[in-house]
Amino acid sequence: MHFHIVSIFPRLFHSYLADSILKRAQDNGKIQFSFYDPRSVTTNKHKKVDDLPYGGGPGMVMMAEPIIKLWETITQKTFKEKLPFTKKRKFKTILLSPGGETFTTGMAKTLAREYTDIIFICGRYEGVDARVAEVTGAELVSIGDYVLTGGELAAMVMCDSIARQCEGVLGNQASLEEERISSHEMYTRPERFSYRGKEYGVPEVLLSGNHKKIDEWRKTH
Ligand code: ADE
Repeated sequence: MHFHIVSIFPRLFHSYLADSILKRAQDNGKIQFSFYDPRSVTTNKHKKVDDLPYGGGPGMVMMAEPIIKLWETITQKTFKEKLPFTKKRKFKTILLSPGGETFTTGMAKTLAREYTDIIFICGRYEGVDARVAEVTGAELVSIGDYVLTGGELAAMVMCDSIARQCEGVLGNQASLEEERISSHEMYTRPERFSYRGKEYGVPEVLLSGNHKKIDEWRKTH
């Protein structure tokens, strides 16, 4: 899976992607990230990427042209890249927006299964000129019912969740565990933990070694 990030703040992604599972997945060639900064393709002197909204109102709107230019470069460039197993490239464009469809694990699974390349367009300010979605056919996606200062965090959340669904990113065992366990209540050592004079134990069933019973318990906890 190749994640293409269109953002004026690509550095926001670097530390998150440089550690843990996502780092290993990149090192193993399971996933790849590329960044594209709209400022790099602006034609005006001050590298301006936003302007006032038509019809008035507070804030600024990100201009369509630089983003569409980058989107064209991404789709054309990567079409020419060779993929292993002669697999055809399949692109999906997502525009992060608090007004979009809410992201779910189900969506992450579908995206991981059906596409080789996902382009994330990260808006800042009050949003992105609506003609970006019109030209690129982008789907508007929100990660939840709250407003962030930009799409970058939302794109990172989506990349993390989609990457987990890509083959070979989690170990086999970890993927199986993810399917099997719905429990949110997890425990580790010590078996008895004291805090301010009170003892906190571990549910007996988890110590029983009876995996059938443990699975039953996990379905409800
Ligand atoms: N941009 C600002 N808020 C957002 C949200 N909740 N989801 C996706 N993109 C956003």
